Amino acid sequence: GKLEMPRASVKELESGDAAVFMADGQRKGAYRDKNGELYIVDTTCTHLGCEVEWNHGDRTWDCPCHGSRFSCTGEVIEGPAEKPLQKHSHTMLDNLTSENS
Ligand code: FES
Repeated sequence: GKLEMPRASVKELESGDAAVFMADGQRKGAYRDKNGELYIVDTTCTHLGCEVEWNHGDRTWDCPCHGSRFSCTGEVIEGPAEKPLQKHSHTMLDNLTSENS
């Protein structure tokens, strides 16, 4: 895959873009839709627990282990995963920082 520059802040996310952030020591995926609405998902795949990565071209969360794919808001597109990514409310946004910080 191609390297993604980590965003310093979730506020820098542009509409239609997503990135991985850290919140309380855990990886979280943040996606901003065309209306500016933010969707926060846990990046732990619901199949066997690998970490999903953002696929910029297809705008999906893809799992490198067995090929599960999730929509930008965490719904299952392709198995073997059967359950959507765990979703989080906006209240955790204040705790989000760049993956590298
Ligand atoms: Fe993600 Fe198996 S752990 S597809």
